[in-house]
Amino acid sequence: MSVIRRIYGWIDNRFDVTPELEKNVTKKWVPRTLSWAGCFGGLAFFTFLVQVFTGMLLLMYYKPHPESAWDSVTFIKSNVTMGWLVQRIHAVAANLMIALVLMHMARIAYYKIYRTPRELHWVSGVLLLLLTTMMAFTGYLLPWTQLSYWGAKVGTEIPSAIPIIGTDVVEWVRRGKAISGETLGFFFSLHIWILPAIMSAFMGMHFVMIRRTGISKPL
Ligand code: HEM
Repeated sequence: MSVIRRIYGWIDNRFDVTPELEKNVTKKWVPRTLSWAGCFGGLAFFTFLVQVFTGMLLLMYYKPHPESAWDSVTFIKSNVTMGWLVQRIHAVAANLMIALVLMHMARIAYYKIYRTPRELHWVSGVLLLLLTTMMAFTGYLLPWTQLSYWGAKVGTEIPSAIPIIGTDVVEWVRRGKAISGETLGFFFSLHIWILPAIMSAFMGMHFVMIRRTGISKPL
């Protein structure tokens, strides 16, 4: 313990960590009347961090190729130490994150927190909800099972309802006419870095805006 305290003291002397920690965490003022529903946003963020961490572990073995994707996931689940657990956590936390984001959104809608001056919190939130569902949708294809394949086929069919450009959008999303290795590669890149990077930027905006306006209840 004293080693940790000494390391912390050394860093604190140089970077003044304690006043920042007190201001933002340990002595931060929060509303006394904040209900349990106020934790959904934070929990959604926590599940995002869980996804990033377990996703990094899965990436050590996953192979984004039609010939090897399914085998690599099976290998993770049956041969890698604790692989089954990491894979299950990643799959369950994805569902949990969507549920938490929706519950967070329901609280904001119920208490009408989207009104001035928090309109842009709501707008950035809606984008985060869309991005969260896109993360789930692209991730669903990666194990390359029958379910993933047909799920992607039905899901990517949806833009065909757009007048005039619908078919082109479908082909763009699929990277061709059918679900193939090209689709898998595209969804893989979206899932592992493009969408998480965009989400991190929007979450940053969301948090900065919340810090500026403060929470919607009196402290
Ligand atoms: C990945 C998705 C999201 C994350 C990680 C997230 C995270 C957070 C966090 C940590 C807070 C502060 C604590 C709280 O009030 O719960 C917050 C507040 C807020 N969020 Fe989100 N959020 C997400 C999605 C959304 C969505 C979908 C909406 C609405 C469409 C939304 C609208 C808001 C608003 C209006 C506030 C201010 C609440 C207040 O002042 O009381 N957020 N968000």
